[in-house]
Amino acid sequence: MRLMTLVSLLLLWPHAGHSAEAGFPLYEMTPDLEDKGSLQRGAKIYMNYCLGCHSLQYQRYKRTAVDLGVPESLMLEHLVFDPNTKIGDTITNTISQSNAKTWFGAVPPDLTLYTQLKGGPEYLYTYLLTFYEDKKRPLGANNLVYENVGMPHALVELQGVQKKVCKDIPKLAENGGEMMDALSQDYITEEVCGLELVERGYSPLALVEGSGLLDADEYEQVVYDLTNFLYYVGDPSRLERERTGVFVLIFLAFFFVPAYLLAREYKKELH
Ligand code: HEC
Repeated sequence: MRLMTLVSLLLLWPHAGHSAEAGFPLYEMTPDLEDKGSLQRGAKIYMNYCLGCHSLQYQRYKRTAVDLGVPESLMLEHLVFDPNTKIGDTITNTISQSNAKTWFGAVPPDLTLYTQLKGGPEYLYTYLLTFYEDKKRPLGANNLVYENVGMPHALVELQGVQKKVCKDIPKLAENGGEMMDALSQDYITEEVCGLELVERGYSPLALVEGSGLLDADEYEQVVYDLTNFLYYVGDPSRLERERTGVFVLIFLAFFFVPAYLLAREYKKELH
């Protein structure tokens, strides 16, 4: 019995969270699979801005249409750009791996399982928010969570241009006071870097309501929707499973009453 309790406790243990590789603290992001509008907008952004380089080879258009509540004809009309593609096909692209390696120095990975295997939604969310202009990189872009990334900033027209600004600020001691060098009496400083939006983005595709200049909040919404969509793609039956799980628990709770009464009757017979 004790073993059973231990096993069930272990099974209930929440999964460990994901953390950034480069040590940059990740922004919080809680996916919401019930928000169909967000998932639909995320899919639209993905098809327009990411699919050219990143396939979703384990996901089909049809399943996506059904789960996101988009009629198949609308899906084919607005979200599928290759006329030869059929609704039952998987979401692939035609980028050549060897060309991609020459152009970007790395092959763009398939993203179907990305939020499951590599980064988790927080990592992806932070990654898409922390691209900045860096003239030293071949494609002019760098990233705070993925240093020297090979990918260009695919959403730069939506986000606008961010620059990295670093300042030397006095280092704080554990008690909160500013640290000083005992000999020279100078403050001991540390470099703290952040990103600053120096040029606002624009939404030419009217992806976001009230298109035009996008501010930081609107861009965050774009990235939220996109991350939410990729989180859904990583495990399309999650929502269904969670719902079924709730029904099963409710059923068990009700079933407990007759089962208990029946057991009591049986016990009476035994004595
Ligand atoms: C022009 C091609 C191109 C486009 C468009 C593009 N990517 Fe990438 N992406 C790449 C390449 C190349 C890499 C590999 C970079 C590396 O490993 O240095 C990459 C890597 C990634 C990674 C993996 C980072 C990691 O942790 O390994 C993610 C996530 C990603 N891209 C998401 C996106 C999303 C979301 C979009 C759409 C907004 C997008 N990409 C658009 C080329 C592209």
